[in-house]
Amino acid sequence: MSVFDEAVRALREWQHDDQPFQLHPGDLGWYRRFGAKSAEDAVRVWRADGEIVAVGLLDGADLLRFTIAPERRQDAELAARLADDVCTPERGVLPSGTVYVESPRGTRFQELMFARGWQSDVPWTPLRLDLGAQLLDPDVSIDVIGHDQADVHAGVIRASFEKSTFTEERWHAMAVGSPYAEARSLVALERGVAVAAIVVWSAGPGRPGLIEPMGVHRDHRGKGFGTAITIAGAAALRELGSSSAIVCTPSSNAGAVATYRAAGFTALPEVHDQRRDQYC
Ligand SMILES: CC(C)(COP(=O)(O)OP(=O)(O)OC[C@H]1O[C@@H](n2cnc3c(N)ncnc32)[C@H](O)[C@@H]1OP(=O)(O)O)[C@@H](O)C(=O)NCCC(=O)NCCS
Repeated sequence: MSVFDEAVRALREWQHDDQPFQLHPGDLGWYRRFGAKSAEDAVRVWRADGEIVAVGLLDGADLLRFTIAPERRQDAELAARLADDVCTPERGVLPSGTVYVESPRGTRFQELMFARGWQSDVPWTPLRLDLGAQLLDPDVSIDVIGHDQADVHAGVIRASFEKSTFTEERWHAMAVGSPYAEARSLVALERGVAVAAIVVWSAGPGRPGLIEPMGVHRDHRGKGFGTAITIAGAAALRELGSSSAIVCTPSSNAGAVATYRAAGFTALPEVHDQRRDQYC
């Protein structure tokens, strides 16, 4: 089994509704759009006694998105080992200069990083929807995207995010990755035209499922399509057995936060990446 697939398996097991927001198998699944080799190269795992105890995703050159096995989060020895690796550029986890680490709140690792001079970066808002409760009605026509409509889905995502490089080819690369076995791509249609798109990622029955990404074509905003595609994504996650739908967006993205709330999500306390401007 590849390290990527091993990491996905570990992350899947660590998802629980009572855990703080953390790296999800869907994050690796979405990264898989860059191809098998890039995804394998971007994943870091730490092991103890042969077991994976921490997983990181290098999401760009300067950001490590990272989580630790729930039962190991207060382990001081592991925290020191992880912090040493993350803080030492020669170990090949993060380069020197300004870098960012996303990790779940409340761990010994985070405490240690603050003690070593890392700072809180800008706030992000996690949001959550309990899928045991009644969902709103999306009230628009929704298509589930298969291989033959990858271009439609990718086109809407490109028209939603200014810097998106998503393409039909990247959709296919994403869809052959192991996490996509439990994912769905949807689009919302207005008179037959695709106007909004989402990918939702289950982590297995009874576990939280992730939204990544969700967007509305820039020519079709302000008409409720963001709310509608989010509700449709949540319904797809419920069909896949997820206990909740989760998402995290920069708090500065007021439109996204408002849209998730309109779809029934509740905002959780803000979270922050940790940033280092110099060596720690
Ligand atoms: C955020 C986004 C999805 C909103 O799509 P939309 O179709 O315009 O959203 P809706 O029409 O369903 O609006 C839902 C709510 O959000 C509010 N809203 C939408 N855009 C807003 C903005 N820029 N600022 C403040 N509120 C906004 C609406 O007023 C509405 O609130 P209400 O229910 O209280 O009336 C869209 O702007 C987009 O695709 N942005 C770029 C991609 C992105 O940021 N995706 C989310 C990343 S996690």
